[in-house]
Amino acid sequence: MMFRLPLATFGLIATTTMAFAHGDVAPQPMDTDTLPDVGEEWLIENPYRGQGDDVWKTAIEIGDSGYNQNCARCHGLGVVSGGLAPDLRYLEAEEYGDEWYVERFQTGYTQNGITKMPAFGELLGQKAAWAIRTYIETRPDDGELDDATPRLIQIRDQLKAMADGGDGDVAALQAELSSIAETVETGSGAPIADSVAFRAAYLIGGDEPNFLAAAEALTIGLSATN
Ligand code: HEC
Repeated sequence: MMFRLPLATFGLIATTTMAFAHGDVAPQPMDTDTLPDVGEEWLIENPYRGQGDDVWKTAIEIGDSGYNQNCARCHGLGVVSGGLAPDLRYLEAEEYGDEWYVERFQTGYTQNGITKMPAFGELLGQKAAWAIRTYIETRPDDGELDDATPRLIQIRDQLKAMADGGDGDVAALQAELSSIAETVETGSGAPIADSVAFRAAYLIGGDEPNFLAAAEALTIGLSATN
């Protein structure tokens, strides 16, 4: 289950995520052209939910940037809530959780005439809604990489050396990263977590392994979780 997206995109995610961490208050438009259409009528279940296919992967990528531009300032960077608004990682990744999610996304939340959460439905549209949903539901639960962190740091250092021309067994490292990725659980119950181990395994897979991007993904991901 490896995917074919331009490898550079994963490097970009990290930078946009950081740049927009404290993004604008106005809803930020999202480019969702590369996602399949889902029709006009609002669905109540995530049409991009998947198990590693290309659509799922694209949804996560677009949802990452969309979430971090539009939702993170209240719901927390990387969907780890700082207490301002509910932690969205635990909304169940099935119809019940989706229905609740999409209702809030469309209409926002107002209490005693005060807007606590703006409505995003009209401004961002349905494809954006489900892309963000896909990103949210694939977040790893707290502490899932704690045990693997010392080893991931070693792998990171080795990948850095390999980016500089050093030797290394790419297939073995990829297999090890994948098996670490498989142990990571989501808070939502979605079957695959989009962890840094998962991303790094992906980045060194395929015909053009990108060691530097994988090392950077690990550096950013491991510092964010600690
Ligand atoms: C200005 C702050 C703010 C922004 C921006 C914001 N939210 Fe919220 N959101 C809230 C607050 C506050 C609540 C809690 C409302 C309540 O008490 O039910 C909430 C609730 C939710 C809920 C219901 C969670 C639950 O457990 O009941 C969902 C889903 C949600 N937001 C999704 C999003 C998404 C997706 C975005 C970005 C597109 C977003 N929010 C942007 C403040 C915000």
